[in-house]
Amino acid sequence: MRLSAALLGFGVKLAAAVVSLEVKGSDFVDPSNGDRFQVVGVAYQPGGSAGYNPALGFDPLSDGSKCLRDAALMQILGINAIRVYNLDPDLNHDECASIFNAAGMYMMIDVNSPLVGQSLDGTAPWTTYTSAYLNRSFAIVEAFRHYPNTLLFFSGNEVISDADSGAIDPAYVRAVTRDLKSYIAKHSDRIIPVGYSAADVRSVLFDSFNYFQCSISGDANDTSRADIFALNSYSWCGDSSFTTSQYNALVAGFTGSSVPVFFSEYGCNVPAPRIFTEVGTIYSDQMTPVFSGGVVYEYANEVSDFGLVNISSDGTIDILQDFYTLQNQYNKVDFKTVQTTKANGTDATAPVCSSKLITTKGFETNFTLPKLPPGAAEILAKGVHPLPSGKIITISDWNVNYTVRNPDGSTLVNLAVKPLANNAFNMPGTQNATTATATSTSTSSPATSTAAAKNAGLGRADLVWTPAVALAAILPCLFTLLL
Ligand SMILES: *[C@@H]1O[C@H](CO)[C@@H](O)[C@H](O)[C@H]1NC(C)=O
Ligand SMILES: *[C@@H]1O[C@H](CO)[C@@H](O)[C@H](O)[C@H]1NC(C)=O
Ligand SMILES: *[C@@H]1O[C@H](CO)[C@@H](O)[C@H](O)[C@H]1NC(C)=O
Ligand SMILES: *[C@@H]1O[C@H](CO)[C@@H](O)[C@H](O)[C@H]1NC(C)=O
Ligand SMILES: *[C@@H]1O[C@H](CO)[C@@H](O)[C@H](O)[C@H]1NC(C)=O
Ligand SMILES: *[C@@H]1O[C@H](CO)[C@@H](O)[C@H](O)[C@H]1NC(C)=O
Ligand SMILES: *[C@@H]1O[C@H](CO)[C@@H](O)[C@H](O)[C@H]1NC(C)=O
Repeated sequence: MRLSAALLGFGVKLAAAVVSLEVKGSDFVDPSNGDRFQVVGVAYQPGGSAGYNPALGFDPLSDGSKCLRDAALMQILGINAIRVYNLDPDLNHDECASIFNAAGMYMMIDVNSPLVGQSLDGTAPWTTYTSAYLNRSFAIVEAFRHYPNTLLFFSGNEVISDADSGAIDPAYVRAVTRDLKSYIAKHSDRIIPVGYSAADVRSVLFDSFNYFQCSISGDANDTSRADIFALNSYSWCGDSSFTTSQYNALVAGFTGSSVPVFFSEYGCNVPAPRIFTEVGTIYSDQMTPVFSGGVVYEYANEVSDFGLVNISSDGTIDILQDFYTLQNQYNKVDFKTVQTTKANGTDATAPVCSSKLITTKGFETNFTLPKLPPGAAEILAKGVHPLPSGKIITISDWNVNYTVRNPDGSTLVNLAVKPLANNAFNMPGTQNATTATATSTSTSSPATSTAAAKNAGLGRADLVWTPAVALAAILPCLFTLLL
């Protein structure tokens, strides 16, 4: 599937690319026309944490034929960005990155992983803020910085979740943000934004936001200041509303932000099946002046039941009803208008860091950040060695080889990624699934039985169910097995 570098030299045209977006004030902006960009994203981590296995040599972006299958379905859904959590900097991601690029989708990349030494330990961050940890985080930057569709890097995910973690972790997360930004400024030919993905725990959410968006030096170029702020929010459940979901409190709290704010996860799944009515609100005038869209959790179904599709071990896909429900909600939004709004030229200035910004007792008020750990300055100066790298390559076959079935058992035909024109990104409603007219082999409706099972098992309104909680419960066992 790959074209040799030699051939490229003879003028073979690469597939068109998306425009690398920039952060301007509180907006993601297409620098070619000044249009503001709203994230229409989906979390992409098939296999959950087990989908990343450096020992066996795979991660969610290492198998081109699977990315092709998934990008084709995401085009039909209307997605313009994926978030990928756990990646191996030493694997080749060229096919997957090139496929998502051609399909008109940006990539949000978490630099961390749940493996020991590959993320901060929130209960004792000083033990894990090491040069080996930073080297790996920088290596992720190296592996993805060449792709035009790399939208941003997350320096941390839900490290701060309560008063205890709020007391000790913010300075370390801000230090990691600083180090990634310093690395990018020195080694990347393009400035790629870096920021934090917060748990939506309202008692520490806005303190975290202010701790990361504020400027220590007093100007916008503070190297430790976050470029973006994102939150994983599950407060809109079922047939809710702007006020019932407390989205109104989020809009109020983030109004006047000096950086783009968006949902890095959303999509509460109790009650099931989901109706995704939050979509209409997220892309409405109630939210878009302050928010830049969001990422639905999640593409592939795992034990926590947030998926839009089931993926079998042979790669066959069963599309779940939630996929089409979400597509219907996207189709109701006028994205041509939403995505061509000009960026707000008058940007809010970052507040100057001060203990006055912090409202919760015990939350970190020290803005003197930890110094680089021993050995890290040299890696920062000279770059990661050996050097991971990535490049956009030509994909010769856009057809999907896997069987993909609808909830009613019918099979999708002619499934393929449709490479977009240069500078274009994917939009809802521009592509629809073509279904075989042949008779279905399925006798019952899987969609109906799934919904019934979910309602029986999970229909408890009091159950606070977040993917992070589920992951935290599962991860230790999984990784004990793997190592
Ligand atoms: C799909 O299968 C065909 C025939 O076996 C093969 O030529 C092609 O390379 C495959 N495409 C992908 C994307 O794997
Ligand atoms: C730094 O990261 C690279 C890329 O993953 C790896 O090959 C190298 O061994 C790491 N070096 C150190 C000192 O950890
Ligand atoms: C920030 O950096 C940019 C680009 O280097 C520069 O144009 C701008 O003047 C700087 N702003 C401040 C407040 O230092
Ligand atoms: C632009 O941003 C400024 C500063 O945050 C705000 O006062 C103003 O209302 C915004 N304008 C629009 C049209 O959103
Ligand atoms: C603030 O943090 C820095 C860096 O960890 C530390 O050296 C300093 O002692 C702290 N200051 C206070 C008042 O705790
Ligand atoms: C896809 O289907 C939606 C909903 O029926 C429709 O609005 C849209 O025009 C269709 N798009 C194409 C490209 O056929
Ligand atoms: C999807 O997977 C879940 C969990 O394994 C299962 O309960 C459900 O029946 C599957 N649905 C379809 C349509 O395959």
